Amino acid sequence: MKKILLVVLMFALTISLFSQEKKEVRIPTLGELAPSFTAESTQGEINFPEDYFNKWKVIFSHPSDFTPVCSTELIELANKQEEFENLDAKIFVISTDGLNSHLEWINSMESINYKDRKTPKINFPIISDVNMQVSRLYGMIHPYENSTHNVRGVFIISPDNHIRFFCFYPTNVGRNIDEILRVLIALQMSEKEHVLIPADWQKGDDFLLHSPGTVKDAEALKAKNDPDIYSLAWYLWFKKRK
Ligand code: BEZ
Repeated sequence: MKKILLVVLMFALTISLFSQEKKEVRIPTLGELAPSFTAESTQGEINFPEDYFNKWKVIFSHPSDFTPVCSTELIELANKQEEFENLDAKIFVISTDGLNSHLEWINSMESINYKDRKTPKINFPIISDVNMQVSRLYGMIHPYENSTHNVRGVFIISPDNHIRFFCFYPTNVGRNIDEILRVLIALQMSEKEHVLIPADWQKGDDFLLHSPGTVKDAEALKAKNDPDIYSLAWYLWFKKRK
């Protein structure tokens, strides 16, 4: 009897250890070098991020081809792909489905009139990741949500190949492509103008300056009478958008 109990206990322990290991997710964090991979896509082999040095890169992961939410997301992405191009950003879509499925799905989406607009030709590659190698590398598989398909992840990667932004949406809620564009523009502006970006910032709004640190430093800044900056409190300074 003791032996049977011991075997059952060992079995339960092994199962529990195995399932814990399966649920471990490692997401590349902000500032980290983007993990490298080579993968097949609808536009041929992708060597990421090395082949795209000096360009902004935006990766969208999605759960499954021929599904309703994913289809609306990719159609919206196609409608706005030119805006990404104008920001010198390259779009990559990734799922754990295969290449043939991706190609058939692209054909189908290009024939759909969503919100009375004809879907433009989809110019961005869809990566096939049937063995989940890339999805795992980027922490896109969230096993408590789904252990074999990606959640809706977005990574924005800078021209020097570092992770600058990431977010995850659940399977049942589609992403807002305009918000991703807003973050991309905000990141680019922040770097170019050496400014911070306030809450709910939209293109055309003023920027934030780093806090002067002390009331005395704020008074010194005020004494400069710079017409391009103004403050609402000693720690809250804005730079006018030109
Ligand atoms: C969708 O995109 O609609 C979807 C994807 C996976 C599971 C359920 C829905």
